[in-house]
Amino acid sequence: MTTILMVCLGNICRSPLAHGILQSKLPKDKFYVDSAGTAAYHLVKPPDPRSIAVAKKNGLDISNQKARQFDVYDFDSYDYIYAMDRSNYRDIISKARNSTDIDKVKLFLEVNDSIQKKDVPDPYYGGEKGFDDVYDLIFNTCSLLEEKFSPKA
Ligand code: 4NP
Repeated sequence: MTTILMVCLGNICRSPLAHGILQSKLPKDKFYVDSAGTAAYHLVKPPDPRSIAVAKKNGLDISNQKARQFDVYDFDSYDYIYAMDRSNYRDIISKARNSTDIDKVKLFLEVNDSIQKKDVPDPYYGGEKGFDDVYDLIFNTCSLLEEKFSPKA
């Protein structure tokens, strides 16, 4: 089983989308996908209603997810840890115990060569359009991760 963790700040806007989208693209018997936030603002809450709505509009149900905080033991449980932005990256790295932990952490957008700025914008304080744009960005990047994790022969 390959284990993948998506991480943002609150675990209610961006990482739940990355979690749900990538999970829908990979075979469940080979990949376990989860998400977490670096902050504890919204523990056990479902994703932001705007993330639930944009996912639903695109045929994906993420309403059963529950926010949790990133924990140092996630370094043991996950093979790949993807940070939605550089601030999340720094917060995750600050908890790393050794170089094995550090090597697991990547910027989510690193795989997406068509995007120069490597931060997924935080749509929390914006309007609906922000969520549509972020959904598209996360969806396209998850397609690239799907290629990385299940290369066609
Ligand atoms: P997320 O967005 O990191 O994509 O889940 C945010 C959600 C909540 C807050 C900030 C960002 N907040 O400050 O409560």
